[in-house]
Amino acid sequence: MSGAVGGPPIQDSYRLRRDAELRVGEDGSLTLRQTRFQLTLEHPGMGRRALLLRLAADWVGDVEVGRLISGLEGESRVLPAQLLLRRLLAHSWLERRVQVDDRALLDLVPTGLGRGSLPESRPHTPGARYRLSRFATLQHERGMLVAASSLSTLTVGCADATLGAVLAAAVPGVRPDTVARTLGVPAEAAGRVLDELATARILVTDTEFEAERDDAPLAYWSPEELRLHQRSRAGGHALPVGGTYRMRERFAPQPLRRPYDGGRAVELPLPDLATIAKADPAFSQVVADRRTVRDHDGAPLPLERLAEFLYRSQHTTAVGEAGGQEVGHRPYPGGGGVYELEIYPLVARCAGLDPGLYHYDAVGHRLEPVAVWGAAADRLLAYARAAGAMPRPPQTVLVVTARVQRLMWKYEGMSYAMILKDAGVLTQQMYLVATAMGLAPCALGAGDSQAFAELSGLDPLVEPSVADFLLGSRRAADGGGRP
Ligand SMILES: Cc1cc2nc3c(=O)[nH]c(=O)nc-3n(C[C@H](O)[C@H](O)[C@H](O)COP(=O)(O)O)c2cc1C
Repeated sequence: MSGAVGGPPIQDSYRLRRDAELRVGEDGSLTLRQTRFQLTLEHPGMGRRALLLRLAADWVGDVEVGRLISGLEGESRVLPAQLLLRRLLAHSWLERRVQVDDRALLDLVPTGLGRGSLPESRPHTPGARYRLSRFATLQHERGMLVAASSLSTLTVGCADATLGAVLAAAVPGVRPDTVARTLGVPAEAAGRVLDELATARILVTDTEFEAERDDAPLAYWSPEELRLHQRSRAGGHALPVGGTYRMRERFAPQPLRRPYDGGRAVELPLPDLATIAKADPAFSQVVADRRTVRDHDGAPLPLERLAEFLYRSQHTTAVGEAGGQEVGHRPYPGGGGVYELEIYPLVARCAGLDPGLYHYDAVGHRLEPVAVWGAAADRLLAYARAAGAMPRPPQTVLVVTARVQRLMWKYEGMSYAMILKDAGVLTQQMYLVATAMGLAPCALGAGDSQAFAELSGLDPLVEPSVADFLLGSRRAADGGGRP
Protein backbone atom coordinates (compact mmCIF):
# COMPACT_ATOMS: atom_id res chain seq x y z
CA MET A 1 0.00 0.00 0.00
CA SER A 2 2.54 2.58 -1.04
CA GLY A 3 2.66 5.10 -3.87
CA ALA A 4 3.78 4.47 -7.43
CA VAL A 5 7.48 4.27 -8.17
CA GLY A 6 8.85 7.79 -8.56
CA GLY A 7 5.68 9.32 -7.07
CA PRO A 8 5.19 10.43 -3.50
CA PRO A 9 5.21 7.52 -1.08
CA ILE A 10 1.67 7.30 0.28
CA GLN A 11 1.75 5.15 3.38
CA ASP A 12 -1.07 3.68 5.42
CA SER A 13 -0.60 2.89 9.08
CA TYR A 14 -2.97 1.35 11.58
CA ARG A 15 -3.82 1.31 15.25
CA LEU A 16 -6.50 -0.18 17.46
CA ARG A 17 -9.59 2.04 17.55
CA ARG A 18 -9.50 4.30 20.60
CA ASP A 19 -12.76 3.07 22.11
CA ALA A 20 -11.45 -0.52 22.18
CA GLU A 21 -8.96 -2.16 24.49
CA LEU A 22 -6.77 -5.23 24.31
CA ARG A 23 -6.88 -7.69 27.21
CA VAL A 24 -4.29 -10.39 27.69
CA GLY A 25 -5.80 -13.55 29.25
CA GLU A 26 -4.01 -15.79 31.75
CA ASP A 27 -4.26 -18.64 29.22
CA GLY A 28 -2.34 -16.56 26.69
CA SER A 29 -5.42 -15.56 24.67
CA LEU A 30 -5.92 -12.00 23.48
CA THR A 31 -9.31 -10.28 23.58
CA LEU A 32 -10.29 -7.07 21.84
CA ARG A 33 -13.14 -5.37 23.67
CA GLN A 34 -15.33 -2.45 22.81
CA THR A 35 -18.49 -1.36 24.67
CA ARG A 36 -20.71 -3.73 22.75
CA PHE A 37 -18.36 -6.08 20.88
CA GLN A 38 -15.50 -8.43 21.56
CA LEU A 39 -13.13 -10.66 19.58
CA THR A 40 -10.88 -13.33 21.10
CA LEU A 41 -7.78 -14.87 19.57
CA GLU A 42 -7.23 -18.14 21.44
CA HIS A 43 -3.65 -18.94 20.36
CA PRO A 44 -2.25 -15.85 18.72
CA GLY A 45 1.42 -16.97 18.65
CA MET A 46 4.39 -14.73 19.36
CA GLY A 47 4.27 -12.59 16.21
CA ARG A 48 0.54 -11.87 16.15
CA ARG A 49 0.65 -11.15 19.91
CA ALA A 50 3.45 -8.61 19.34
CA LEU A 51 1.50 -7.09 16.44
CA LEU A 52 -1.67 -6.62 18.49
CA LEU A 53 0.27 -5.12 21.38
CA ARG A 54 1.92 -2.66 18.96
CA LEU A 55 -1.45 -1.78 17.38
CA ALA A 56 -2.91 -1.11 20.82
CA ALA A 57 0.00 1.22 21.62
CA ASP A 58 0.58 3.26 18.45
CA TRP A 59 0.37 3.57 14.65
CA VAL A 60 2.03 0.69 12.79
CA GLY A 61 2.85 0.80 9.07
CA ASP A 62 2.96 -2.13 6.62
CA VAL A 63 6.76 -2.09 6.50
CA GLU A 64 7.02 -2.21 10.25
CA VAL A 65 4.57 -5.13 10.41
CA GLY A 66 6.79 -7.11 8.03
CA ARG A 67 9.89 -6.27 10.01
CA LEU A 68 8.30 -7.11 13.36
CA ILE A 69 6.94 -10.50 12.31
CA SER A 70 9.94 -11.70 10.30
CA GLY A 71 12.22 -10.70 13.18
CA LEU A 72 10.22 -12.72 15.68
CA GLU A 73 8.96 -15.70 13.66
CA GLY A 74 10.63 -15.62 10.26
CA GLU A 75 9.58 -14.48 6.79
CA SER A 76 7.00 -17.25 6.35
CA ARG A 77 4.79 -15.83 9.14
CA VAL A 78 4.53 -12.34 7.65
CA LEU A 79 1.65 -13.20 5.33
CA PRO A 80 -0.64 -14.65 8.07
CA ALA A 81 0.06 -11.56 10.16
CA GLN A 82 -0.81 -9.31 7.20
CA LEU A 83 -4.03 -11.29 6.78
CA LEU A 84 -4.92 -10.74 10.43
CA LEU A 85 -4.29 -7.02 9.97
CA ARG A 86 -6.58 -6.94 6.90
CA ARG A 87 -9.28 -8.86 8.77
CA LEU A 88 -9.16 -6.49 11.76
CA LEU A 89 -9.33 -3.56 9.36
CA ALA A 90 -12.29 -5.01 7.44
CA HIS A 91 -14.14 -5.59 10.72
CA SER A 92 -13.48 -1.99 11.82
CA TRP A 93 -11.26 -2.81 14.78
CA LEU A 94 -8.56 -0.51 13.41
CA GLU A 95 -8.17 3.15 12.60
CA ARG A 96 -6.16 3.91 9.48
CA ARG A 97 -3.85 6.89 8.94
CA VAL A 98 -2.90 8.13 5.48
CA GLN A 99 0.53 9.76 5.26
CA VAL A 100 2.43 11.35 2.41
CA ASP A 101 6.19 11.62 2.82
CA ASP A 102 5.81 10.94 6.55
CA ARG A 103 3.29 13.78 6.85
CA ALA A 104 0.05 12.53 8.43
CA LEU A 105 -2.87 13.88 6.38
CA LEU A 106 -5.97 12.15 7.65
CA ASP A 107 -7.23 9.40 9.96
CA LEU A 108 -10.07 7.09 8.94
CA VAL A 109 -11.96 6.23 12.12
CA PRO A 110 -14.79 3.69 11.85
CA THR A 111 -17.99 4.11 13.89
CA GLY A 112 -19.40 0.64 13.10
CA LEU A 113 -17.93 -2.71 14.13
CA GLY A 114 -18.01 -6.22 12.70
CA ARG A 115 -18.18 -7.78 9.26
CA GLY A 116 -19.63 -5.45 6.63
CA SER A 117 -19.38 -2.40 8.88
CA LEU A 118 -17.09 -0.43 6.55
CA PRO A 119 -18.65 1.48 3.66
CA GLU A 120 -17.90 0.33 0.14
CA SER A 121 -14.99 2.20 -1.30
CA ARG A 122 -16.01 5.07 -3.62
CA PRO A 123 -12.95 6.14 -5.59
CA HIS A 124 -13.23 9.71 -6.90
CA THR A 125 -13.99 10.42 -10.54
CA PRO A 126 -10.96 12.21 -12.05
CA GLY A 127 -11.80 15.76 -13.08
CA ALA A 128 -15.18 15.76 -11.28
CA ARG A 129 -16.09 18.51 -8.86
CA TYR A 130 -16.69 17.51 -5.24
CA ARG A 131 -18.79 19.32 -2.66
CA LEU A 132 -19.22 19.11 1.08
CA SER A 133 -22.21 16.85 1.73
CA ARG A 134 -25.31 18.42 3.30
CA PHE A 135 -25.05 15.65 5.91
CA ALA A 136 -21.41 16.28 6.85
CA THR A 137 -20.68 17.71 10.29
CA LEU A 138 -17.44 18.89 11.87
CA GLN A 139 -16.69 18.37 15.50
CA HIS A 140 -13.88 18.44 18.00
CA GLU A 141 -12.89 14.92 19.08
CA ARG A 142 -9.88 14.19 21.25
CA GLY A 143 -7.95 17.22 20.08
CA MET A 144 -8.70 16.75 16.38
CA LEU A 145 -11.17 18.21 13.88
CA VAL A 146 -13.31 15.25 12.80
CA ALA A 147 -15.66 15.21 9.82
CA ALA A 148 -18.58 12.77 9.96
CA SER A 149 -21.63 12.03 7.87
CA SER A 150 -24.89 10.41 8.98
CA LEU A 151 -24.73 8.47 5.71
CA SER A 152 -21.44 6.69 6.45
CA THR A 153 -19.81 4.54 9.13
CA LEU A 154 -16.40 6.06 8.51
CA THR A 155 -15.33 9.40 9.97
CA VAL A 156 -12.32 11.43 8.92
CA GLY A 157 -9.94 13.02 11.42
CA CYS A 158 -8.01 15.98 10.04
CA ALA A 159 -4.53 14.87 11.15
CA ASP A 160 -3.24 17.83 9.13
CA ALA A 161 -5.08 21.09 9.81
CA THR A 162 -4.90 22.04 6.11
CA LEU A 163 -7.48 19.35 5.44
CA GLY A 164 -9.95 21.71 7.19
CA ALA A 165 -9.23 24.23 4.43
CA VAL A 166 -10.05 21.56 1.80
CA LEU A 167 -13.41 20.94 3.50
CA ALA A 168 -14.15 24.68 3.58
CA ALA A 169 -13.20 24.98 -0.10
CA ALA A 170 -15.55 22.07 -0.84
CA VAL A 171 -18.60 24.11 0.17
CA PRO A 172 -18.70 25.74 -3.27
CA GLY A 173 -16.80 22.76 -4.76
CA VAL A 174 -13.24 21.43 -5.26
CA ARG A 175 -11.44 19.53 -8.01
CA PRO A 176 -8.34 17.37 -7.51
CA ASP A 177 -5.99 20.20 -8.52
CA THR A 178 -7.43 22.51 -5.81
CA VAL A 179 -6.99 19.73 -3.26
CA ALA A 180 -3.38 19.22 -4.36
CA ARG A 181 -2.66 22.96 -4.15
CA THR A 182 -4.40 23.47 -0.80
CA LEU A 183 -2.65 20.51 0.81
CA GLY A 184 0.65 21.10 -0.98
CA VAL A 185 0.84 17.48 -2.17
CA PRO A 186 1.28 15.89 -5.63
CA ALA A 187 -1.77 14.97 -7.73
CA GLU A 188 -1.62 11.28 -6.82
CA ALA A 189 -1.84 12.04 -3.11
CA ALA A 190 -4.65 14.55 -3.66
CA GLY A 191 -6.56 11.85 -5.56
CA ARG A 192 -6.12 9.50 -2.66
CA VAL A 193 -7.44 12.12 -0.21
CA LEU A 194 -10.48 12.59 -2.44
CA ASP A 195 -11.02 8.80 -2.55
CA GLU A 196 -11.07 8.67 1.23
CA LEU A 197 -13.34 11.72 1.67
CA ALA A 198 -15.74 10.40 -0.98
CA THR A 199 -15.82 6.93 0.63
CA ALA A 200 -16.61 8.51 4.00
CA ARG A 201 -19.33 10.52 2.17
CA ILE A 202 -17.94 13.80 3.49
CA LEU A 203 -17.50 14.91 -0.13
CA VAL A 204 -20.03 14.09 -2.84
CA THR A 205 -20.20 14.81 -6.56
CA ASP A 206 -22.38 17.62 -7.85
CA THR A 207 -25.00 15.08 -8.91
CA GLU A 208 -25.00 13.43 -5.48
CA PHE A 209 -25.21 16.83 -3.80
CA GLU A 210 -28.30 17.70 -5.82
CA ALA A 211 -29.88 14.33 -4.99
CA GLU A 212 -29.23 14.92 -1.27
CA ARG A 213 -31.00 18.25 -1.55
CA ASP A 214 -33.77 17.58 -4.06
CA ASP A 215 -34.69 13.90 -4.18
CA ALA A 216 -36.64 11.68 -1.80
CA PRO A 217 -35.83 10.23 0.64
CA LEU A 218 -32.83 12.44 1.57
CA ALA A 219 -34.54 15.74 0.70
CA TYR A 220 -36.98 15.12 3.57
CA TRP A 221 -34.29 14.75 6.23
CA SER A 222 -32.64 17.66 7.97
CA PRO A 223 -29.05 16.75 8.92
CA GLU A 224 -29.73 17.30 12.64
CA GLU A 225 -32.83 15.08 12.68
CA LEU A 226 -31.07 12.25 10.83
CA ARG A 227 -28.11 12.51 13.18
CA LEU A 228 -30.26 12.42 16.32
CA HIS A 229 -32.25 9.49 14.91
CA GLN A 230 -29.16 7.41 14.14
CA ARG A 231 -27.33 8.25 17.35
CA SER A 232 -30.30 7.34 19.51
CA ARG A 233 -30.75 3.86 18.01
CA ALA A 234 -28.37 0.88 18.04
CA GLY A 235 -27.14 -0.70 14.81
CA GLY A 236 -25.06 0.81 12.04
CA HIS A 237 -22.64 2.18 14.62
CA ALA A 238 -20.91 0.78 17.67
CA LEU A 239 -21.27 3.81 19.94
CA PRO A 240 -22.82 3.15 23.35
CA VAL A 241 -26.61 3.37 23.43
CA GLY A 242 -28.48 2.81 26.67
CA GLY A 243 -28.09 2.96 30.43
CA THR A 244 -24.31 3.19 30.85
CA TYR A 245 -24.45 5.50 33.90
CA ARG A 246 -22.02 7.69 32.02
CA MET A 247 -21.94 10.49 34.61
CA ARG A 248 -21.85 8.33 37.74
CA GLU A 249 -18.16 8.95 38.44
CA ARG A 250 -18.34 12.67 37.72
CA PHE A 251 -21.53 14.12 39.20
CA ALA A 252 -23.94 13.35 42.04
CA PRO A 253 -27.38 12.28 40.78
CA GLN A 254 -30.28 14.76 40.97
CA PRO A 255 -33.05 13.88 43.44
CA LEU A 256 -36.45 12.62 42.26
CA ARG A 257 -38.27 15.58 43.82
CA ARG A 258 -37.35 18.87 42.25
CA PRO A 259 -35.84 21.12 44.96
CA TYR A 260 -37.76 24.36 45.62
CA ASP A 261 -36.82 27.34 47.75
CA GLY A 262 -39.06 29.97 46.21
CA GLY A 263 -41.36 30.74 49.14
CA ARG A 264 -44.88 29.68 50.05
CA ALA A 265 -46.45 26.97 47.95
CA VAL A 266 -50.19 26.52 47.33
CA GLU A 267 -51.20 23.27 49.04
CA LEU A 268 -53.66 21.41 46.81
CA PRO A 269 -56.70 19.44 47.96
CA LEU A 270 -56.14 15.69 47.70
CA PRO A 271 -58.68 14.17 45.34
CA ASP A 272 -60.96 11.53 46.82
CA LEU A 273 -60.12 8.52 44.69
CA ALA A 274 -63.20 6.54 45.83
CA THR A 275 -65.54 9.32 44.65
CA ILE A 276 -63.59 9.64 41.41
CA ALA A 277 -63.86 5.89 40.77
CA LYS A 278 -67.67 6.15 41.04
CA ALA A 279 -67.94 9.29 38.88
CA ASP A 280 -65.54 8.26 36.09
CA PRO A 281 -66.88 6.78 32.87
CA ALA A 282 -65.69 3.25 32.04
CA PHE A 283 -62.13 3.05 30.69
CA SER A 284 -63.43 1.81 27.34
CA GLN A 285 -65.69 4.88 27.17
CA VAL A 286 -62.81 7.25 28.00
CA VAL A 287 -60.68 5.74 25.25
CA ALA A 288 -63.55 5.89 22.77
CA ASP A 289 -64.46 9.50 23.69
CA ARG A 290 -60.95 10.97 23.74
CA ARG A 291 -60.80 13.98 21.42
CA THR A 292 -58.82 17.17 21.09
CA VAL A 293 -60.99 20.12 22.10
CA ARG A 294 -59.70 23.47 20.84
CA ASP A 295 -61.96 25.84 22.77
CA HIS A 296 -62.39 26.62 26.46
CA ASP A 297 -65.51 27.60 28.34
CA GLY A 298 -66.09 31.16 29.58
CA ALA A 299 -66.23 29.83 33.16
CA PRO A 300 -62.67 28.99 34.25
CA LEU A 301 -61.49 25.71 35.66
CA PRO A 302 -61.80 25.64 39.48
CA LEU A 303 -58.56 25.05 41.37
CA GLU A 304 -59.71 21.71 42.82
CA ARG A 305 -60.34 20.40 39.26
CA LEU A 306 -56.86 21.48 38.17
CA ALA A 307 -55.49 19.81 41.31
CA GLU A 308 -57.34 16.57 40.53
CA PHE A 309 -56.10 16.65 36.94
CA LEU A 310 -52.48 17.16 38.01
CA TYR A 311 -52.68 14.46 40.67
CA ARG A 312 -54.14 11.89 38.29
CA SER A 313 -51.66 12.74 35.55
CA GLN A 314 -48.41 13.27 37.38
CA HIS A 315 -48.56 12.43 41.11
CA THR A 316 -45.23 10.92 42.09
CA THR A 317 -44.15 8.58 44.85
CA ALA A 318 -40.56 7.62 45.52
CA VAL A 319 -40.02 3.88 45.29
CA GLY A 320 -36.34 3.61 46.10
CA GLU A 321 -33.07 3.54 44.28
CA ALA A 322 -31.76 2.00 41.08
CA GLY A 323 -28.13 2.18 39.99
CA GLY A 324 -27.39 4.79 42.66
CA GLN A 325 -30.24 7.08 41.60
CA GLU A 326 -33.65 7.74 43.19
CA VAL A 327 -36.49 6.33 41.10
CA GLY A 328 -40.21 6.86 41.43
CA HIS A 329 -43.69 5.85 40.38
CA ARG A 330 -46.18 7.89 38.36
CA PRO A 331 -49.52 7.03 36.75
CA TYR A 332 -47.70 6.62 33.42
CA PRO A 333 -44.59 4.57 32.57
CA GLY A 334 -41.29 6.42 32.17
CA GLY A 335 -37.84 5.38 30.92
CA GLY A 336 -35.91 3.75 33.78
CA GLY A 337 -38.40 5.05 36.37
CA VAL A 338 -36.29 8.22 36.33
CA TYR A 339 -39.25 10.59 35.77
CA GLU A 340 -37.38 13.63 34.55
CA LEU A 341 -40.50 15.48 33.35
CA GLU A 342 -42.02 18.35 35.34
CA ILE A 343 -45.26 20.25 34.72
CA TYR A 344 -45.39 24.06 34.91
CA PRO A 345 -48.99 25.35 34.63
CA LEU A 346 -49.12 28.81 33.08
CA VAL A 347 -52.43 29.90 34.55
CA ALA A 348 -54.32 32.62 32.66
CA ARG A 349 -57.71 31.91 34.21
CA CYS A 350 -58.40 29.51 37.07
CA ALA A 351 -60.99 30.03 39.82
CA GLY A 352 -59.12 30.21 43.13
CA LEU A 353 -55.62 30.83 41.75
CA ASP A 354 -53.83 34.06 40.76
CA PRO A 355 -52.64 34.23 37.14
CA GLY A 356 -48.96 33.35 36.73
CA LEU A 357 -46.54 30.50 36.25
CA TYR A 358 -46.44 27.67 38.80
CA HIS A 359 -44.50 24.45 39.21
CA TYR A 360 -46.48 21.36 40.16
CA ASP A 361 -44.61 19.62 42.97
CA ALA A 362 -45.77 16.13 42.08
CA VAL A 363 -44.37 14.56 45.27
CA GLY A 364 -45.89 17.12 47.69
CA HIS A 365 -49.03 17.71 45.55
CA ARG A 366 -48.76 21.50 45.68
CA LEU A 367 -48.24 24.40 43.31
CA GLU A 368 -45.05 26.37 43.75
CA PRO A 369 -45.30 29.97 42.46
CA VAL A 370 -42.54 30.60 39.89
CA ALA A 371 -43.40 33.94 38.23
CA VAL A 372 -46.16 36.51 38.20
CA TRP A 373 -47.75 37.34 34.84
CA GLY A 374 -45.49 39.38 32.55
CA ALA A 375 -44.60 40.07 28.91
CA ALA A 376 -43.02 36.63 28.45
CA ALA A 377 -46.25 35.04 29.74
CA ASP A 378 -48.18 36.97 27.07
CA ARG A 379 -45.81 35.62 24.39
CA LEU A 380 -46.05 32.07 25.68
CA LEU A 381 -49.85 32.24 25.77
CA ALA A 382 -50.08 33.85 22.31
CA TYR A 383 -47.85 31.20 20.76
CA ALA A 384 -49.83 28.41 22.42
CA ARG A 385 -53.16 29.88 21.37
CA ALA A 386 -52.02 30.16 17.74
CA ALA A 387 -50.50 26.64 17.75
CA GLY A 388 -53.75 25.21 19.10
CA ALA A 389 -55.88 27.31 16.72
CA MET A 390 -57.93 28.45 19.73
CA PRO A 391 -60.66 31.03 19.08
CA ARG A 392 -59.80 32.68 22.44
CA PRO A 393 -56.82 32.47 24.82
CA PRO A 394 -56.56 29.12 26.62
CA GLN A 395 -57.30 29.01 30.36
CA THR A 396 -54.02 27.21 31.10
CA VAL A 397 -50.93 26.09 29.20
CA LEU A 398 -49.21 23.16 30.89
CA VAL A 399 -45.55 23.50 29.96
CA VAL A 400 -43.63 20.25 30.36
CA THR A 401 -39.92 20.54 31.11
CA ALA A 402 -37.24 17.86 31.34
CA ARG A 403 -34.66 17.83 34.11
CA VAL A 404 -32.22 16.50 31.56
CA GLN A 405 -29.44 15.76 34.04
CA ARG A 406 -31.57 13.11 35.73
CA LEU A 407 -31.80 11.14 32.50
CA MET A 408 -28.43 12.06 31.01
CA TRP A 409 -26.73 10.88 34.20
CA LYS A 410 -27.73 7.36 33.26
CA TYR A 411 -28.41 7.13 29.52
CA GLU A 412 -25.96 7.52 26.69
CA GLY A 413 -26.80 8.40 23.08
CA MET A 414 -30.55 8.08 23.56
CA SER A 415 -31.36 10.54 26.40
CA TYR A 416 -33.03 13.22 24.30
CA ALA A 417 -35.01 10.71 22.26
CA MET A 418 -36.13 9.12 25.54
CA ILE A 419 -37.27 12.50 26.89
CA LEU A 420 -39.49 13.03 23.84
CA LYS A 421 -40.91 9.51 24.18
CA ASP A 422 -41.64 10.14 27.86
CA ALA A 423 -43.31 13.43 26.90
CA GLY A 424 -45.53 11.52 24.46
CA VAL A 425 -46.55 9.07 27.17
CA LEU A 426 -47.38 11.92 29.58
CA THR A 427 -49.37 13.63 26.81
CA GLN A 428 -51.56 10.56 26.37
CA GLN A 429 -52.02 10.32 30.14
CA MET A 430 -53.19 13.95 30.24
CA TYR A 431 -55.58 13.35 27.32
CA LEU A 432 -57.19 10.37 29.06
CA VAL A 433 -57.50 12.11 32.44
CA ALA A 434 -58.95 15.25 30.82
CA THR A 435 -61.44 13.12 28.88
CA ALA A 436 -62.48 11.20 32.01
CA MET A 437 -62.97 14.55 33.81
CA GLY A 438 -64.91 16.17 30.94
CA LEU A 439 -62.21 18.84 30.38
CA ALA A 440 -60.84 20.28 27.12
CA PRO A 441 -57.38 18.87 26.20
CA CYS A 442 -55.08 19.81 23.32
CA ALA A 443 -51.45 18.78 22.87
CA LEU A 444 -49.14 21.13 21.01
CA GLY A 445 -46.39 20.21 18.57
CA ALA A 446 -44.16 23.06 19.75
CA GLY A 447 -44.05 25.85 22.31
CA ASP A 448 -41.98 29.00 22.80
CA SER A 449 -38.99 27.69 24.78
CA GLN A 450 -37.32 31.10 24.93
CA ALA A 451 -40.42 32.75 26.42
CA PHE A 452 -40.66 29.94 28.97
CA ALA A 453 -36.97 30.26 29.94
CA GLU A 454 -37.37 34.03 30.33
CA LEU A 455 -40.53 33.74 32.41
CA SER A 456 -39.37 30.87 34.62
CA GLY A 457 -35.74 31.97 34.96
CA LEU A 458 -34.74 28.33 34.34
CA ASP A 459 -31.54 27.61 32.44
CA PRO A 460 -32.72 25.92 29.22
CA LEU A 461 -29.63 23.69 29.30
CA VAL A 462 -30.65 22.43 32.73
CA GLU A 463 -34.43 22.29 32.41
CA PRO A 464 -35.66 23.02 28.89
CA SER A 465 -39.35 23.00 28.02
CA VAL A 466 -40.02 20.00 25.75
CA ALA A 467 -43.81 19.72 25.43
CA ASP A 468 -46.93 21.84 25.86
CA PHE A 469 -50.57 21.03 26.58
CA LEU A 470 -53.63 23.26 26.64
CA LEU A 471 -56.18 22.57 29.36
CA GLY A 472 -59.40 24.28 30.33
CA SER A 473 -63.02 23.68 31.17
CA ARG A 474 -65.09 22.42 28.28
CA ARG A 475 -68.04 24.34 26.87
CA ALA A 476 -71.43 22.63 27.39
CA ALA A 477 -71.81 22.52 23.58
CA ASP A 478 -68.59 20.43 23.44
CA GLY A 479 -69.95 17.99 26.06
CA GLY A 480 -68.41 19.87 28.99
CA GLY A 481 -68.53 18.95 32.66
CA ARG A 482 -67.90 15.64 34.34
CA PRO A 483 -69.58 12.99 32.16
C1 LIG B 1 -47.63 15.25 19.86
C2 LIG B 1 -48.87 15.98 19.44
C3 LIG B 1 -48.79 17.26 18.94
C4 LIG B 1 -49.91 17.97 18.58
N1 LIG B 1 -49.78 19.27 18.18
C5 LIG B 1 -50.89 20.00 17.94
C6 LIG B 1 -50.80 21.39 17.65
O1 LIG B 1 -49.72 21.96 17.63
N2 LIG B 1 -51.92 22.08 17.42
C7 LIG B 1 -53.14 21.48 17.46
O2 LIG B 1 -54.12 22.17 17.25
N3 LIG B 1 -53.27 20.16 17.73
C8 LIG B 1 -52.17 19.41 17.99
N4 LIG B 1 -52.29 18.08 18.33
C9 LIG B 1 -53.61 17.44 18.34
C10 LIG B 1 -53.81 16.63 17.08
O3 LIG B 1 -54.03 17.50 16.00
C11 LIG B 1 -54.97 15.67 17.28
O4 LIG B 1 -54.65 14.76 18.30
C12 LIG B 1 -55.28 14.91 15.99
O5 LIG B 1 -55.75 15.78 14.99
C13 LIG B 1 -56.32 13.82 16.21
O6 LIG B 1 -57.52 14.38 16.70
P1 LIG B 1 -58.13 13.92 18.11
O7 LIG B 1 -57.12 14.17 19.18
O8 LIG B 1 -59.36 14.77 18.29
O9 LIG B 1 -58.45 12.47 18.01
C14 LIG B 1 -51.18 17.35 18.69
C15 LIG B 1 -51.28 16.05 19.17
C16 LIG B 1 -50.15 15.37 19.54
C17 LIG B 1 -50.26 13.99 20.12
